[in-house]
Amino acid sequence: MAISNTSSRFGWLTRLLHWLVAVHILGLVALGWYMVDLSYYDPNYHDSLFYHKAFGLVALTLAAAKVAWFIVNVQPSPTQALPAWQAWASKAVHLLLLGLMLIIPISGYFISTSAGDGIDLFGVLEIPALIAVSDAWREIAIAIHEYLAYTILAITGLHAAAALKHQFIDKDGTLTRMLW
Ligand code: HEM
Ligand code: HEM
Repeated sequence: MAISNTSSRFGWLTRLLHWLVAVHILGLVALGWYMVDLSYYDPNYHDSLFYHKAFGLVALTLAAAKVAWFIVNVQPSPTQALPAWQAWASKAVHLLLLGLMLIIPISGYFISTSAGDGIDLFGVLEIPALIAVSDAWREIAIAIHEYLAYTILAITGLHAAAALKHQFIDKDGTLTRMLW
């Protein structure tokens, strides 16, 4: 089983990173959505935020690895000849997802470090605040984080629907190729 992609197959590292990033992002959107509805005094609020920030930084690390691995690898051709608009749309969606998986956790980092406090990574390591941003920038980071998180969810919905359509209606093995 090759580590790198070929012109017709995804290597195992691409597949591993794809599913690790996907699980983290979907989990973090769900946790973020649950967490912001809790009151500050709810005991679950602090635990949820602690895990959201720590897993969010894990997601950022995985996403950085994924983007770097995407850049240095060839991309397999589609499993069947696609109309030009579909080939274009699929590339555009992949590039959008790759950009968003970096911007969302980076904006989260700036929300959390805006007061100059570091981030506690599972009680093991403290990730320092690089710069303390003003309140106005903190509000912008919150807006970016929130809107882009729900945008990535919507785009993932389209992306997953397209994968399922190719696998089960066109029967061209698109999903199987990302699984094994
Ligand atoms: C891919 C990774 C991430 C995703 C998908 C994500 C998603 C979300 C979502 C959906 C919300 C709720 C937004 C709302 O409805 O108001 C949220 C809130 C939040 N996230 Fe993240 N997040 C990620 C990474 C991070 C990271 C790395 C940090 C910090 C280290 C972070 C810090 C926060 C904070 C502080 C809030 C609360 C913002 C507020 O007060 O409104 N997130 N996140
Ligand atoms: C949860 C359901 C998901 C399913 C069923 C799914 C399925 C797939 C499949 C089948 C491919 C291969 C497409 C091809 O052959 O051209 C693919 C590629 C890709 N997917 Fe997903 N995906 C999911 C979630 C996500 C998420 C959450 C992200 C990122 C936020 C993501 C990012 C990508 C990217 C960047 C590619 C391009 C190939 C690569 O990984 O380098 N996917 N996906």
